[in-house]
Amino acid sequence: MCGIFGYVGYKEALPFLVEGLKKLEYRGYDSAGVATLDKGKLFVSKCVGKISDLESLLQQKPIAGEIGIGHTRWATHGQPSHLNSHPHEDCRSELVVVHNGIIENYMELRQELSARGHKFKSATDTEVLAHLIEENLEAEGLFSAVRKSLLAVRGSYALAVISEREPGKIVAARHGSPLIVGHGEDEKFLASDIPAILKYTGKVIYLDNGELAEISSEETRIIGLSGKSVSKKLTFISWDPESAEKGGYSHFMLKEIHEQPNAIRKTIEGRVEADSHKIHFDELNLTDEEIRRVNRVVFTACGTSWHAGLIGEYLFEQLAKLPSEVEYAAEFRYRNPIIDENTLVIAITQSGETADTLAAVWEAKARNAKTIAICNVVGSTIAREAHGVVYTNAGPEIGVASTKAFTTQLTVIYLLALLFGKRRGIIDDNEATELIRRLIEIPQKMEQLLLSEPKIEAIAEKLSKATNALYLGRGKGFPIALEGALKLKEVSYIHAEGYPAAEMKHGPIALIDENMPVVVLALAGRRYDKILGNIEEVKARGGQVIAVASEGDTMITEKSDEIIYIPSTIESLSPLLAVVPLQLLAYYIAVKRGCHIDQPRNLAKSVTVE
Ligand code: G6P
Repeated sequence: MCGIFGYVGYKEALPFLVEGLKKLEYRGYDSAGVATLDKGKLFVSKCVGKISDLESLLQQKPIAGEIGIGHTRWATHGQPSHLNSHPHEDCRSELVVVHNGIIENYMELRQELSARGHKFKSATDTEVLAHLIEENLEAEGLFSAVRKSLLAVRGSYALAVISEREPGKIVAARHGSPLIVGHGEDEKFLASDIPAILKYTGKVIYLDNGELAEISSEETRIIGLSGKSVSKKLTFISWDPESAEKGGYSHFMLKEIHEQPNAIRKTIEGRVEADSHKIHFDELNLTDEEIRRVNRVVFTACGTSWHAGLIGEYLFEQLAKLPSEVEYAAEFRYRNPIIDENTLVIAITQSGETADTLAAVWEAKARNAKTIAICNVVGSTIAREAHGVVYTNAGPEIGVASTKAFTTQLTVIYLLALLFGKRRGIIDDNEATELIRRLIEIPQKMEQLLLSEPKIEAIAEKLSKATNALYLGRGKGFPIALEGALKLKEVSYIHAEGYPAAEMKHGPIALIDENMPVVVLALAGRRYDKILGNIEEVKARGGQVIAVASEGDTMITEKSDEIIYIPSTIESLSPLLAVVPLQLLAYYIAVKRGCHIDQPRNLAKSVTVE
């Protein structure tokens, strides 16, 4: 959480900083600030609110300079306020720091620094960094002062520092929170995430934990915390810069919902062929023998990615006949999990930077389990930490509420389950060919489904005044019910719960009355009759039923107040389609309620703190 952006080059830094922070605003948006160095003098501007507020302030009082750093904040220590906004400065106002992460021992450092005469202005953990660097600056020079200061620090950080004493450089460091350096022609960019620099360059260096960078317009020098120099390769990011723009849509969330058919095509591309049973994953890093040795699968993830893991549990049990379970990453890492070298731990993460998921991967590795990351961001920390990785190839996902990352995760999980099923002799070649053929049909079916958007918008209008909602599903419809409820909570702030439909009688049924909308996943399949029974129970208590049903279902008509049909497919693939109307429903309800859809309150896209 929190976004960092930096520029050093031969142009005015400010437009880059503002533009970069706008791209990173999904990481936090309660306050923001920038600092530049102009003719060796520091200028700082910051305020509470969004980047647009900072932009207005800067329009009235611009700051100049060809080097600068900026920050968009998601508060951890100290409420959003002018004083707590970054950048933070030292006592002499000679240097400023922006920081993403948490300095865990900041209280004790603050006491020590105060005892040595330092005066603090903010309630943040970050400010100790500015004062620590100040103490070492004169004797050590900026790069070494930052390194020395970090030796005293416990916690996680991505940070950037500029100083009047050495005006041509940014010093950056990373431990736990992501940071990349983008290389342009005689200019460099520093950012928390790729979309922020994509417009300027695709050449990046990923900083690893415990690394510091000294960045000038000519070069990037990298050292470890020990002071030893580190040589790093440039990675080329092939994402299209347009993919980080809204492209005519009013929100990234809507754009990303519509991108799903093509995103799934890209996820499948090169990995399967029509009329073939073959599946290839280049970076899976597991031999056929290792696949056969796996006797248990544990999915671990947070948020929407955890819901993908829940479906993974069903798919791996069904298609690969492997005992599978899904665990919240934050629980898994502290639970003393019983896993061994025959356990496969699959970490699912859009960003590849979620702190708990990363720690879960470390925990699994420490216990000798094999680990795979299903990840969207190429080169991200979890992608590099796991033994193998399968990229979802969804392109940048900017909307805080995850949509295309989820459906591409499901696509990868389906293919992985098929691969394991084949290698374990559960699925024969003919069956695999048929299951792949059905997957290849999905993008086109999803395009057809997206044509129901006006109908879903009309339903959203009716539901927009609700204060609560219930989402029910059975089998693979249950994780989709959870995901639908999560989408609604995230973007519209309506309280919503997802439940396995059969559990309704054990509590939630008490909530049902004429004001309670109940979204029911009534998809064709083994559990269809049971779900019809649950719908009757809701109707009998006056609840309004919004059914998501399979095309051609006529039985549902008289039982529901509203019906959204999804094209027919096999049960294993129905979650991929069924989630789309729920994403649109949440989106349009949030539009009607005037919510900040791409940046919902209190949320951040990438949760890099525990
Ligand atoms: C945050 C985001 C969610 C996301 C979750 C996990 O809470 O707001 O949309 O599902 O983190 O993120 P990851 O990048 O690990 O999938």
